[in-house]
Amino acid sequence: MTLPPLPYRIGYGEDAHRLAGGRPLVLGGVPIPHAERGAVAHSDGDAVLHAVADALLSGLALGDIGQYYPDTDPAHAGLDSRVILEDSLALVREWKYRPANVALVVTLDRPRLGPLRADIARNVAALLGLAETEVGVSFKTSEGLAPDHVQVRVTVLLTRVEG
Ligand code: C5P
Ligand code: MG
Repeated sequence: MTLPPLPYRIGYGEDAHRLAGGRPLVLGGVPIPHAERGAVAHSDGDAVLHAVADALLSGLALGDIGQYYPDTDPAHAGLDSRVILEDSLALVREWKYRPANVALVVTLDRPRLGPLRADIARNVAALLGLAETEVGVSFKTSEGLAPDHVQVRVTVLLTRVEG
């Protein structure tokens, strides 16, 4: 028996990177001014876009971005995370779903990200073809428990596109 496709599917993604000096911090495609440290990564280290891409894939049980872009492959060094996200979104569309809304949480002790909330929401929304009001952006400190890393967690609701 084949079950009919679900009208909705939930995806969840995470990403974390170590922070170190001498590199930019970019979150959701937004460069963070006054960040003393940036993400140590094989790609551009945008933990928001990585976690969103993983959430999209997870919603359709399509694995994770590491399978499509192994960080052992030199061809992926410095890869623009927007490409990873666009490819993941293309897969979602091939499977006849589209993102309906996104909720993301960034855990970072410093700097304060509150003033950039709208910029990050707008940027992520634009990449996904969503309205700014369809991307919830929350920030948390780690209360000093993890001062040397940035962590992002994302849920996404996918809705089936008819036809
Ligand atoms: O994690 P905590 O409860 O201490 O966060 C308190 C407030 O600080 C929240 O309103 C959050 O939006 C903000 N915050 C921020 N930038 C961060 C971490 C938290 O603006 N890097
Ligand atoms: Mg990453």
